[in-house]
Amino acid sequence: MASSSASNSVQHLYGTPAPQPSNGEKQSNTDGVEKGIENIKLTSHNQYKTPRLLRENLDENPLKQFNAWFSSALEPKDDTPVVHEPEAMTLCTVNSKNIPSSRIVLLKTVDDKGFIFFTNYNSRKSKELNENPYTSITFYWREISKSVRVIGKIEKISRKESEDYFKTRPRGSQIGAWSSKQSTKVEEGQVQNIVNEKTKEFQNKDQIDCPEFWGGWRIVPFEVEFWSGQPSRLHDRFRYTREEGSTGEWEINRLAP
Ligand SMILES: Cc1cc2nc3c(=O)[nH]c(=O)nc-3n(C[C@H](O)[C@H](O)[C@H](O)COP(=O)(O)O)c2cc1C
Repeated sequence: MASSSASNSVQHLYGTPAPQPSNGEKQSNTDGVEKGIENIKLTSHNQYKTPRLLRENLDENPLKQFNAWFSSALEPKDDTPVVHEPEAMTLCTVNSKNIPSSRIVLLKTVDDKGFIFFTNYNSRKSKELNENPYTSITFYWREISKSVRVIGKIEKISRKESEDYFKTRPRGSQIGAWSSKQSTKVEEGQVQNIVNEKTKEFQNKDQIDCPEFWGGWRIVPFEVEFWSGQPSRLHDRFRYTREEGSTGEWEINRLAP
């Protein structure tokens, strides 16, 4: 992919040529919309430097290994976690026509079975997960040069778990969950009007119930990869695999960067 000689390309972080503006093209920086995608230049050549990741230091269980890395992402630096919002992850779904889509969601829990996030069960992502229960999530923790990829099968968590979590949410988010038919077309101001109605409707209720259409999904992994950035792109990668549905031991392999 790398093309050092081509005059109209620069190196992307991973060597992919990124487009350069053609001569005479407008290059205003004042407005992202006006700017257009042609002008994006990616010339960064970060040299990642983290301690080498060695097989002997890995936990046999990828969920425990994930927790160890997640804890290191949460370690305080200048009174805030070293990684800002390490729980943000890209969730990829593939619909029944094999067309993928991805979006960011927040990891809320890792239990002994998998990775849990919460959403609207009628949203696009949930519909696609109902059509095809295989999914992938990816974390990127820039500040500590780490990334984790998970591939697995999705399942709904129990109603009680969703209700218990819903109780802990701020009231505004609870009303928000009731007010948004997530992923559907809406008119300007429509959601706010529903929020106003729901706020009134619930005003005498101390506890707002969890909507039936809202709850948690658990990604039960059969593959988890840990990536740790190293200089000269010679990164450390370890992949855990086991058969889907198995509760047995994980096979762990180092992968070429
Ligand atoms: C940082 C961040 C965190 C988010 N967390 C969630 C989340 O936990 N659950 C959720 O449903 N949407 C979350 N969203 C919104 C989703 O990215 C997305 O817009 C929404 O879920 C609708 O996606 P869909 O139409 O593909 O279903 C988050 C967005 C960002 C940028």
